[in-house]
Amino acid sequence: MQTIADISTLREQIAQYKRDGRTIAFVPTMGNLHEGHMSLVRKAREVADIVVASIFVNPMQFDRADDLNSYPRTLDDDLNKLNQESVDLVFTPTPEVIYPEGLDKHTYVDVPGLSTMLEGASRPGHFRGVTTVVTKLFNLVQPDIACFGEKDYQQLAVIRKMVSDMAMNIIIIGVPTVREMDGLAMSSRNNRLTLDQRQRAPVLARTMRWISSTIRSGRRDYASIIEDANDQLRAAGLHPDEIFIRDAHTLSTITEQSIQAVILMSAHLGQVRLIDNQVIDLNAETKDKDTQSEASHQDA
Ligand code: PAF
Repeated sequence: MQTIADISTLREQIAQYKRDGRTIAFVPTMGNLHEGHMSLVRKAREVADIVVASIFVNPMQFDRADDLNSYPRTLDDDLNKLNQESVDLVFTPTPEVIYPEGLDKHTYVDVPGLSTMLEGASRPGHFRGVTTVVTKLFNLVQPDIACFGEKDYQQLAVIRKMVSDMAMNIIIIGVPTVREMDGLAMSSRNNRLTLDQRQRAPVLARTMRWISSTIRSGRRDYASIIEDANDQLRAAGLHPDEIFIRDAHTLSTITEQSIQAVILMSAHLGQVRLIDNQVIDLNAETKDKDTQSEASHQDA
C-alpha cells in the first residue's frame, strides 16, 4: 500500500493506473476508521481493480472550531486497517495541500436546496464544505466509482445530485450502515462517548425502530410521532436535536405521491452528536393489510 500526501506524486500514480487500463474505486474518509469504513473499502474492492482511500479531516465542513479540533486523528491505526484490507493507495493531504491559500479564498461547490435544508439548516456551510472537498478529491483521484455510507443519508443525496448536475462520470455507490450488536450505528464519534453515554446511545436506533413500526402500523400524524420520540430520547438521558420524517427521495415533506419515507434523527449525548436514519416503504402497511385480508379469506 502506498501512502501519498502530495498532489504531484498522486497524479503520477493515478496516471499510471489509467495507462494500465485499471479501474479505480475511491473511498474518501476523515480517518478514525471503524467497521463502517471497512465495509466501504470492501465494497470498493469488489467493484474495481484499484482501491484508493483518502484520509483528510476537512476543515471546510466543520461549523464549529471545537468540533474540528476535537475530531479524533488516528493516522497510524487507520493506515494499518487500510493495509489489512489491501487498499492500493491512501492519499493523506494536509489542509495546506488542499487549501493552499486558506479556506476563504478557495473556490467552492454548492448544491442548492438539498444543502441548506434539514442538517444543512442547522450546520450552515457544512454541505458546501463536503461538496467542495469531494469535488477536489474526485478531480485528483479520477475514480470510476466512489463509495459513501448510507449512514450520512443527506450527504449521500447531496453528492448524488452534485455528480448528476455536474455530469461527473463517476458511479456513486451507497453502502448500508454497519451497526454495533446493540443497534448503535458505527461512527468515529462513538469513541468520544463515556461508558455511561455509550450504554445510553442505542436508544437512538431503538427510538428510530419505534417510529418506523409506528408508521408501518398506519399512523401518519408525523408531528406527534416526533414529539413522542423526543420524549423517549429525553427519558433515556439523550438531548434530542432533530427528527425529520421526509420523502426518502426528495427529502421534502411527505405527500400522497411519496413511496418511501426516511426517518432522519440526531441527538446529543454530552459533547457528541449522534445521527441515524432509516428508510421505510410507505406501502408496507397497505401490503400488510392485503396479506392479512388474503389470509383471512383463506381461513374463511
Ligand atoms: O463522510 C465523510 O467522512 C466526509 O464528509 C467526507 C465525504 C470524507 C468528506 O470530507
